[in-house]
Amino acid sequence: MSNDAPSPEAETPVPEGDHSAERRGFLNTLLFGSMSLLVAFGGYAVGRYLWPPARESAGGGEGQVEAGDASEFPVGAGKKVLYRGEPVWVIHAPFGFVALSAVCTHLGCIVEYEAEKEIWCPCHAAFFDLRGNVKSGPAPRPLPSYPVGVVGGKVVVGEV
Ligand code: FES
Repeated sequence: MSNDAPSPEAETPVPEGDHSAERRGFLNTLLFGSMSLLVAFGGYAVGRYLWPPARESAGGGEGQVEAGDASEFPVGAGKKVLYRGEPVWVIHAPFGFVALSAVCTHLGCIVEYEAEKEIWCPCHAAFFDLRGNVKSGPAPRPLPSYPVGVVGGKVVVGEV
C-alpha cells in the first residue's frame, strides 16, 4: 500500500468563481458588527436603568408658574403644568384649587385626571382623591401638593 494518496482537500478542485472564503469573511464581519451593536445597545440600556438621568429643571423655574386665567378653570377643570421641572396637576376642586404632583408615588408614572374619575395612574391602577390621598391601588403615599392660588385673575402655582 502506498501512502502517497493526496489528502481529500487537495483533490477537491476549487471551482472558478468560488468566493466562499470572501463570503465567510463578510459573514464574520457582519456577525461581529451585529454582536458589537447588540452589546453597545444592551450596555446603554442597562446603564440608563442603573443610572437614570437627573431630572432637568424645565419650566417653572424656582418661583411661580401661571396655569392660566381663573376664568378658564370652572370647578372640575384640570390642567397639567411644569413646576420646578415636575409635572403638576392644577385642579379646581369643589373645595378650591389644588396643585398636586403628577408623579405617582408608586413607581413614578404620570397620573391622569378626569373630573369623573378623579386622579388615577395608568400604570398599575392607583387612584387618588382630589387632595392627593390614596384611595386604592399600590401607591404607598399621597401625591405631594404645592401651594396654589389666584393672583390678579391668574391661577398661580408656587408661593403666592
Ligand atoms: S406607578 Fe402608579 S400605580 Fe404603579
